[in-house]
Amino acid sequence: MNKREIKKGVYYVGAQDWNRTLFDALIPLPDGTSYNAYLVLGSEKVALIDTVDPSKKGILFEYLKDVNNIDYVISHHAEQDHSGSIPFVLEKYPSAKVVTNPKGKELLMSHLHIPEDRFITVNDGETLSLGNKTLKFIYAPWVHWPETFVSYLLEDKILFTCDLFGSHLATSELFVEDESLVFEAAKRYYAEIMMPFRSIIQKNLEKIKDLDIDIIAPSHGPVYKNPSFIIDAYKDWISDNPKNLVVVPYISMHDSTKIMVDYFVDRLIEKGIKVQLFDLSVADIGKIAMSLVDASTLVIGTPTVLAGPHPKVLYVTYLANILKPKARFATVIGSYGWGGRTLDIIKSNLNNLSVELIDPVLVKGLPKLEDLKLLDELAEKIYNKHKEIGVL
Ligand code: FEO
Repeated sequence: MNKREIKKGVYYVGAQDWNRTLFDALIPLPDGTSYNAYLVLGSEKVALIDTVDPSKKGILFEYLKDVNNIDYVISHHAEQDHSGSIPFVLEKYPSAKVVTNPKGKELLMSHLHIPEDRFITVNDGETLSLGNKTLKFIYAPWVHWPETFVSYLLEDKILFTCDLFGSHLATSELFVEDESLVFEAAKRYYAEIMMPFRSIIQKNLEKIKDLDIDIIAPSHGPVYKNPSFIIDAYKDWISDNPKNLVVVPYISMHDSTKIMVDYFVDRLIEKGIKVQLFDLSVADIGKIAMSLVDASTLVIGTPTVLAGPHPKVLYVTYLANILKPKARFATVIGSYGWGGRTLDIIKSNLNNLSVELIDPVLVKGLPKLEDLKLLDELAEKIYNKHKEIGVL
């Protein structure tokens, strides 16, 4: 494959991972993903912007087959899906230096054993001249690790953002063509990788807001020729404003909890509340994470198993707790056989969330008519809460 030109002297040299089905051994990838690297040919120096997952290094080197010299490898992020091929690049180009910040250097040395004398460290706001092209480095911590930064190519107005603005999408299209497709893939990416750092991303977006950006070139998914599309999506996702949405992850063993969930969801819908329902025995964890980007309310449906929540419910509450969505309310519905500590265990598992806990509806055995009335009341409470916060 020949290098794919983004702008004169700036090329895509990354790899599509069409067949990857799971990211971080956690989030399903229905559309694969990519590891984007870019080559910037200045009049005096050559820079490689990030590399690719080591499993795809053959593709990177195919792109680089006629590149005789690389002066700098800009490493925005030490995670191995971008940095993992750096040692192979340094081996092929013995005079190349890795350009990163001090934290990046520390992490690259510990994760990849890159020798200290192969590094050049840069400060926030520092520039690096490639001759007729200039890279400006802007620290952007926690998108996704503490060392992350972005680079702005001044003359071409390209912002290289690594994980920030990325999407889990393998595609033959270099640039975004179908924005709705990329929106979903970028939201899936944001939900798992970025959502826990929502407030920090707000500060990072402030740092880039005055840049004149023609193109955003992330390290996952296609390149944005319309930067405002993804910047506006992020502004919405990172905002403190949830939507009129209730997310209901649930599981049921003998249908009692399912009867409650189905009844309750119908009541919410009748009140004009949007609902996303996930049966945890089959649900895509990535879809649940995506729904949490917008939800005002989390309602967990669980039976009591061996005195506590079903293990799959614990798994999803733990995930919600570490992803720290902006939800304002949470509650639990479900059925138990004779007792247990289901509610206490779920509550302690959601301690990272700034949610008001609404009284649960936990019933003994098969729900009776009076139990369903309690669900009517719970739906009414959630309706009123959504009205109070102005999403309904
Ligand atoms: Fe795509 Fe945090 O690595």
